[in-house]
Amino acid sequence: MAIHDKYVLGRDKVESKRLDSQHRLLVKVSGNTLIHPTLPTEQIRSVADIATGTGIWLEDVTQFLERPHIERYYQGFDISSEQFPSNPGPIQLSVHDVTTPFPKEHWNRYDLVHVRLLVAALEESDYRAAITNIYNILKPGGYLQWEEIDEETYLSANPVIQELRRCFDYGFRAEGKCFQASAKVYKESQIVGFVDVERLAYESHQNPDLRLGTDKRLAAIIRTLYPRLLWRSGQVIGEEAAMQRAEALVEEHFALCEKGQSPSLTLMRVVGRKPDGVDL
Ligand SMILES: C[S@@+](CC[C@H](N)C(=O)[O-])C[C@H]1O[C@@H](n2cnc3c(N)ncnc32)[C@H](O)[C@@H]1O
Repeated sequence: MAIHDKYVLGRDKVESKRLDSQHRLLVKVSGNTLIHPTLPTEQIRSVADIATGTGIWLEDVTQFLERPHIERYYQGFDISSEQFPSNPGPIQLSVHDVTTPFPKEHWNRYDLVHVRLLVAALEESDYRAAITNIYNILKPGGYLQWEEIDEETYLSANPVIQELRRCFDYGFRAEGKCFQASAKVYKESQIVGFVDVERLAYESHQNPDLRLGTDKRLAAIIRTLYPRLLWRSGQVIGEEAAMQRAEALVEEHFALCEKGQSPSLTLMRVVGRKPDGVDL
């Protein structure tokens, strides 16, 4: 476990598998709206996914937008290529840090830019630059769709959730990160110039079929993000102590689930549009 990376999570095969199964859950939580339903899907010709990870969202989008005789351009960016798929098909992949300007060939290029789950990666002071860089690569009239699982998921009386909230709040604060990521994106995107900005919440408990998958996803978070933040912010000394705390919390989590106290997951989504007629 590399303790000093700015990015809290790992990038090995197990983590890639976790991201892919989390993706499947999140799509269901959002009511199978891979692309937000108010966006004019048929007009979208070029799509970029920032912090694409394994590229799983883009992979699904290529299938969702597949139409005979319509060509589309798909581009994934990530600060690391470690989790890129070995066979990306029609998807172009590039290494790029969203907090620095994109190469000029990407400016004014995309109808849709998607971002998901940068809460554990960006410092609070990075958001303005990241959103400005995204604005610059969108075509005039193009859309931003940014999704996060942030503090909103952890506002609950469930004691396991309360412990996670305490730890994440302390850990993110210690690293200058922002636990209220979707609220930050909502605010900063309007300052940068996006219009028609909306912030929406999707609850996993709206669909009882998602309960088991949501319980399992949370256990995976307790075994990854929780011990890393405990250790990195000095709440425990050493990796082993962090893992022991995590296993005890996983046990408590599943015991509560068996008693019918499964916590809900809240997926936050911010959508906005770059105004027409703004060419850079
Ligand atoms: C939790 S993963 C999410 C991956 C993917 N978006 C998803 O939802 O499955 C976060 C990703 O952000 C990437 N990342 C971290 N900091 C970044 C930055 N400054 N610019 C671009 N990507 C970044 C990491 O390498 C990682 O792949």
